[in-house]
Amino acid sequence: MTNADLDEMTVLLGSPQVMRYYARPKTRAEAASWIEWSKANYARDGYGLWLLHDEHDRFVGECGLTWQTMDDITDLEVGYHVLPQFQGRGLATEAAIACREFARSRGVTRLTSNIFHRNRPSQRVAEKVGMQLERETIDPPDRPIGIWSMTLSRASTS
Ligand SMILES: CC(C)(COP(=O)(O)OP(=O)(O)OC[C@H]1O[C@@H](n2cnc3c(N)ncnc32)[C@H](O)[C@@H]1OP(=O)(O)O)[C@@H](O)C(=O)NCCC(=O)NCCS
Repeated sequence: MTNADLDEMTVLLGSPQVMRYYARPKTRAEAASWIEWSKANYARDGYGLWLLHDEHDRFVGECGLTWQTMDDITDLEVGYHVLPQFQGRGLATEAAIACREFARSRGVTRLTSNIFHRNRPSQRVAEKVGMQLERETIDPPDRPIGIWSMTLSRASTS
């Protein structure tokens, strides 16, 4: 993700359908801040949210790994957003599984996903990645969130 991706990220994060479980869609300026946050994550961690393209090289969304703090606990979260016209094709699941394996290869032993309590499509992705609902909490001020998680076994060295 670079500054050159601002138009596509504005469409993605500005989509009312993609952002229906968030407070509101993001503005272009907020999409620009999102890109800056991703670039800072790449610089600090070596990873972050990445752009997703399909087999025809069409932009379809984003998926990746970011450190998130909930209830004073900081975990690596896999996150995903897919454009409405590309949803339901297994793309988020495929990308999230690739992220899980990337995390495992980096020695990460715990992966989470913080999911709004009514966001069934996202919960299904988490389930297919291998996560289970660990606990429920409130993302301030008042968003009911499920913390989905899984333990990652060490990467095979063979
Ligand atoms: C969550 C999201 C990324 C999933 O992307 P996707 O590429 O469509 O996901 P997949 O095709 O890999 O799998 C989606 C699963 O959700 C299911 N699903 C889709 N819409 C659903 C609905 N309205 N109700 C119940 N299940 C639904 C699909 O059937 C599929 O499960 P299945 O394999 O058991 O059939 C996409 O819906 C999205 O971008 N949503 C808005 C942003 C968002 O909420 N991101 C997650 C924040 S925690």
